[in-house]
Order: sequence, then C-alpha cells, then structure tokens
Amino acid sequence: MAPLEAVLIGAGERGTFGVGAFALAHPQDLKFTAVAEPDAARRERFAAWHGIPPERCFATGTELLAQGRLAPLCFIETLDRDHVEPGTRAMELGYDVFLEKPMAESPEKVLQLQATAEATGRILQICHPLRYTPFYMRVKELLGQGRIGAIRSLSMTESVGYWHYSHSYVRGNWRRQDESGPLILTKCCHDMDIAAWLADDEVESVVSLGGRIHFREENAPAGAPARCLDGCPAEETCAFFAPRMYLGARTGWPVSVISTDSSLEARRRALEQGPYGRCVYHCDNDVADHQSVSARFRGGAVLDFTVRANSHDCYRTIRIAGSEGELAGHLERNEITVRRFTAGIPEEEYRVEVHRPFIEAGGHSGGDTGVARHFVDLVRRGDRASAARSLAIAVEGHLLAFAAEEARATGSAMDMTTFRSNATKASGV
Ligand SMILES: NC(=O)c1ccc[n+]([C@@H]2O[C@H](COP(=O)([O-])OP(=O)(O)OC[C@H]3O[C@@H](n4cnc5c(N)ncnc54)[C@H](O)[C@@H]3O)[C@@H](O)[C@H]2O)c1
Repeated sequence: MAPLEAVLIGAGERGTFGVGAFALAHPQDLKFTAVAEPDAARRERFAAWHGIPPERCFATGTELLAQGRLAPLCFIETLDRDHVEPGTRAMELGYDVFLEKPMAESPEKVLQLQATAEATGRILQICHPLRYTPFYMRVKELLGQGRIGAIRSLSMTESVGYWHYSHSYVRGNWRRQDESGPLILTKCCHDMDIAAWLADDEVESVVSLGGRIHFREENAPAGAPARCLDGCPAEETCAFFAPRMYLGARTGWPVSVISTDSSLEARRRALEQGPYGRCVYHCDNDVADHQSVSARFRGGAVLDFTVRANSHDCYRTIRIAGSEGELAGHLERNEITVRRFTAGIPEEEYRVEVHRPFIEAGGHSGGDTGVARHFVDLVRRGDRASAARSLAIAVEGHLLAFAAEEARATGSAMDMTTFRSNATKASGV
C-alpha cells in the first residue's frame, strides 16, 4: 500500500523525533513531502532526512498553508500557543490534522477547534500518546470486559522526575503560564484525557490544590549565582547543576533540546547564554510544581490525581476500585494487576492476575508509535465517526484540566455544567 503523504509544521523535538521518526520507521504508512520550520538548521535536517526538495521547504506554517492543500495529512508540531491558527486553517483547506497537545490555551478555543472539525468534516487527531500505549489499551480492555465491575474510584499519580521537571517546567518552554499554560494543562492534559477516556463519563465537579513550592528564589543555596557556570558554591551538591545535566556523555533528549549542535563546545555555549544554564532557583518560572485534582463524574465515580515535580524517576501509576475488584498498574514497569473480590474466599487468597503488555518501540511507552499509527489507520479507513468520538474525549480531558486550574487558582469547587456552558458561550459555537 502506498504511504499517506503529509506536511509538517514545526520540525522541533516532537516533529523530528516523534512523528518524523515514525515516518522513517514506517515508510509504508507515512511520507512527509513538505516542511515548515523557521530554524534553518532544523528545517534542513528534516528535509535531508525525509528527502524533501527545497521548493517544498517553508519558513513558517503560514507560508506552507498559503500553497493550498499539498497532501492529505497535516501534522502540527509547533509550541502550545501556535496550534489553533494553523490547525483551523489546515482543516479549512481540507487536511486531516494531527495536532499536538494541548489543543489550545483556553477552553473556548478548544471548543472552536472541535467545531471546525465538525463543520469541515475533517479528522482532528490530538496527540495523546498514552491512550495508544499497550499498557493503557490493556487497562481499557480489562475494564470493558467487566473484570472489576463498575468503576467506583480512579487514583492516578504522575511523578515527573526532578530532572525532567526542572528541564521543561523551570528552565524550559513550559515554565510560564503566559507563554504556554498551567502545568495541569501542559503536562497533565494526558492524565486528564486518560481519566475521561477510562471513566467514559462526563465530569460533574472539580476541586484542586497545589502550587509552586520548591522552585522559588528563597530555596536557592546561599551564594548561588544566576547561572550555574558562574561559580556556584553548591555545584557538588545541587541536583540541578546544569553542567552535570547537560555536558555529560549523553546527548539524547533532553540534552538535544539545548542545542541542535551536540558538540561539547556548543552545549557549553548554550549553558552560558541560553535558558538551560540558569539556576533553577533564579528563573522566571511560575507554574505549579505540585498539584492534586479531585473530580466527580456524573455516574458517581471519583477521580483523585496527583502530579509532583520532586520524584527521582518519571513514572505514572493507576489504581481503579471497581464494584467487583481492583486494578493497579505502573506504566513504566508495564505491570497491571487485577484482583477480583470473590465471595467466600479470604483476602489473602484473592486471585491475582498480572498483565505485562508488549511494548512497541517509540517514546511514551510505545504511545508515540501508537498514536501516529492510529491516525494513519483512521484516515485510511475514513472512520470519521470514531475520530469525532475520540476528539470529544480529548475535549473533555482538556476542559477538566482548565476547570482544575481555575479551581486551584480560585480555591473554589467548579461545577462543570456551568463551566462548560460559559466556555460554549465564550466560544460562540
Ligand atoms: N504529545 C506529547 O506527549 C508531547 C510531548 C512533548 C511536547 N509536546 C508538545 O509538542 C509541541 C512541540 O513541542 P517540542 O518539544 O517539539 O517544541 P520545539 O520547540 O522543539 O518545536 C517546535 C518547533 O516549531 C517551530 N516553529 C515556531 N514557529 C513556527 C511557525 N510559525 N511555523 C512552523 N514552525 C514553527 C520552532 O522553530 C520549533 O522548531 C508542544 O505543543 C508541546 O507541548 C507533546
């Protein structure tokens, strides 16, 4: 079968190493034939790797989209605030669109994107890789088989990892609400999406607590300068000392983010001049580093979710209490345990099943491969109805994230009926 042709807007980390890598590994499925990227080094690298001729290389998404529809698919891999405009324009031009999360920076813009997908009849696939990991797909399957009965409560945690958090949410692109969005949206819209997808129900009310408690000026070691390379007295003991994080032998992500040139000199220069050399306690970050969310679904099931910056590793856990049993899982260990309550059997004899789903190659526990393949399959099958259902869940997850942030910021419980209706009015759809 011939591969589907696609254009790419934004050849950064995700564009190059996420969907770009998928196309190179699956040439029978996907072929990029045009690219838009303002950074010449990134644009040329992408064009060289995918064999794109110069006349199909553009400096911006606007220029690329001004050419009309160059292929059936458009992948939008720009930063968070640059999703809505190209996403809308691409659907209007007749592209089926693969859009990075978060969909948009406000609930009303999320609803507008969904409305554009409906009005144009295009597929709008949001890049939520977790839903397409073998792990979460197996959890969903087990729930669908009724293995633990009806969901009564969902407990989920996301431990971001001290090094990942400091890279992305203190020094990096997602450190400020006004430039990207709150942590519960930029990082945890994936978790909110998983909760909405597994619960298969609308959220009724939400509360949330949390804030920025660690990465603050007052927690800086005595005498720490603004940049790690300027003679920090805490360099031996500080877990966030930038040269240790970025000037070692490893050059993959997240080190690859600080400079396209991975030589030691280029990386050192990036730390001297760029954002990743800054002391984590002297940055301009303002997003939360710890947050919890409690929500109630219409059917009565409750969600509790916690995200934390201060963990050693990056990992997610899930525990679902059902009417007939419980399910516990650890994404990175790829482990799912189901324990059914069986009448007459004492607790220590509960039947235990452990599922270790096969993991595919690709980032996000196989989800990067899964979501790209899912999109290609949807387009090939022309399955617009299931694409619309899937989009509706992504929208629900985004609304949950926005409502949780408002609940955290205002210290009040959010009624989702009111929240949805206000967002719908503001969106004008
Ligand atoms: N789905 C996931 O699991 C996941 C994981 C990480 C990041 N993301 C999201 O992916 C998106 C991209 O993140 P990233 O880490 O690749 O960022 P990045 O900064 O590495 O890449 C964005 C690229 O867009 C380019 N760009 C800027 N303006 C442009 C324009 N007008 N036209 C075309 N290109 C333009 C930039 O030069 C840059 O190369 C973000 O929205 C981020 O939140 C998603």
